[in-house]
Amino acid sequence: MGRIIAITNQKGGVGKTTTAINLAATLAEANQKILLLDFDPQGNATSGFGIERDDVEHTIYGVLTGDCNMDEAILVDVTDNLDIIPADMNLAAVDVEFVEHEDKNLILKRLLSDYRNRYDYIIIDCPPSLGTITVNALTASNSVIIPIQCEYYALEGLNQVLNTISIVKQGLNQNLVIEGIVFTMYDSRNKLSQQVVETVRQNFQGNIYDTLIPRNVRLAEAPSHGLPITLYESSSTGADSYRKLAAEVMSKGDTIYG
Ligand SMILES: Nc1ncnc2c1ncn2[C@@H]1O[C@H](COP(=O)(O)OP(=O)(O)O)[C@@H](O)[C@H]1O
Ligand SMILES: [Mg+2]
Repeated sequence: MGRIIAITNQKGGVGKTTTAINLAATLAEANQKILLLDFDPQGNATSGFGIERDDVEHTIYGVLTGDCNMDEAILVDVTDNLDIIPADMNLAAVDVEFVEHEDKNLILKRLLSDYRNRYDYIIIDCPPSLGTITVNALTASNSVIIPIQCEYYALEGLNQVLNTISIVKQGLNQNLVIEGIVFTMYDSRNKLSQQVVETVRQNFQGNIYDTLIPRNVRLAEAPSHGLPITLYESSSTGADSYRKLAAEVMSKGDTIYG
């Protein structure tokens, strides 16, 4: 059985999509079979793999609304070992369209349940909000990875995510666990970066990955070339850091699940 991991944080620009893309890519490189679900109307995980709007016939929105099925929406072997379900702007309508839907928070969970055994990991890139989309993702997932950008308001944001996770745990998904916190855009020369890491380590009891993802210009450039870092600049520090993170995700998973 594969693991379904939501990459979430309601703050935008903290490195969710960069982590979703490059964790997916480095896990795939380590011979894990991956499904990357772009679950953000901005579609950055889709375009980050060079998939253009015109190339896409079906998206996750179509699956959610019943216009197509999962198999039609999955783009197979986008890169070795890696399938993608794309997203586009239509997904933003879900919050409004599903208001009256009886089981609106369980739709994704039901869709993914048949697919969990086909992959080692299903990685979900969440939007920067805590609405229906994110709640669906958290309800469908086994665990959560929370990227934290090393900046001043990081802790405030963390408390909000933890709060949402605990609400989902109480109602919709009792088994949801926090896979870990990963620090992104870390700059070892910057005192604030170090302080944020220190403060979170002192205040958060769960798993914090040893790997710190550095600020690395190659990571920022890769999406405009439509490539994950492993294919854009395989020997960059950005690629190496995500490889280390992938190794930690693979090795720590069993302890986290108990
Ligand atoms: N480690 C990093 N080094 C340099 N730039 C990064 C890094 N992580 C993310 N970025 C850049 O920061 C911006 C926000 O990252 P992104 O992954 O899109 O965040 P989110 O999905 O949380 O909104 C993007 O322009 C991205 O390229
Ligand atoms: Mg994003």
